[in-house]
Amino acid sequence: MKQFKNVFIFDHPLIKHKISILRDKNTGMKEFRELVEEITTIMTYESMRDVELVPVQVETPLETTTQYRVPEDSIAIVPILRAGLGMVNGVHRVFPTAKVGHIGMYRDEDTLEPHEYYCKLPEGIENKTVFLIDPMLATGGSACDALDALKKRGCKKIKLMSIIAAPQGIEAVATAHPDVPVYVSTLDRGLNEHGYILPGLGDAGDRLYGTK
Ligand code: PRP
Ligand code: URA
Repeated sequence: MKQFKNVFIFDHPLIKHKISILRDKNTGMKEFRELVEEITTIMTYESMRDVELVPVQVETPLETTTQYRVPEDSIAIVPILRAGLGMVNGVHRVFPTAKVGHIGMYRDEDTLEPHEYYCKLPEGIENKTVFLIDPMLATGGSACDALDALKKRGCKKIKLMSIIAAPQGIEAVATAHPDVPVYVSTLDRGLNEHGYILPGLGDAGDRLYGTK
């Protein structure tokens, strides 16, 4: 695959361990959901490395010191429905005050084209750092359209976080949105004829919510 400056693929042993269980078809819904959250939490630490900090004065029991904090209300999370919802608690565990917007997208199973069916974003989102989250980056169509939707509504600083990606999805997003850092836990081999990631983990939404 071509190298992209805005794509970061984690190669953390703990993530590898957890993803091996996530992929297993015998892993049940509860464990699957917990793993998605845990992996997201680890990814959040990494993808927040360059987040803006502001100086604050803090009084310790001994003296006053200048410390650094993430500014109040500067971060938003936007899951792509449905499967992205499974990652929200993973970000909230690290950053509980992040407001949450929702973008509803579904992929037409025949054409694989994404369709937006819902969008509700927190007020002032255009001034926040937005974490767009979706566990699966397959053809990249859903992520590209969600990024377009966020930009159309004024978002300027967006990061995309996906657990598993296919090379096609990475290329599509990195080419269409070179200004968006893309954080991915694992790069898989490719896609099958139905647009499913190989080896992948199957349908993330169905496995999270037990719909199949
Ligand atoms: C899945 C997944 C992504 C999309 C990825 O959602 O959660 O949003 O497919 O595929 P793409 O990169 O080819 O667009 P799906 O459309 O299955 O909807 P769901 O989350 O409601 O199950
Ligand atoms: N959506 C999923 O949930 N899984 C895939 O492998 C591809 C798209």
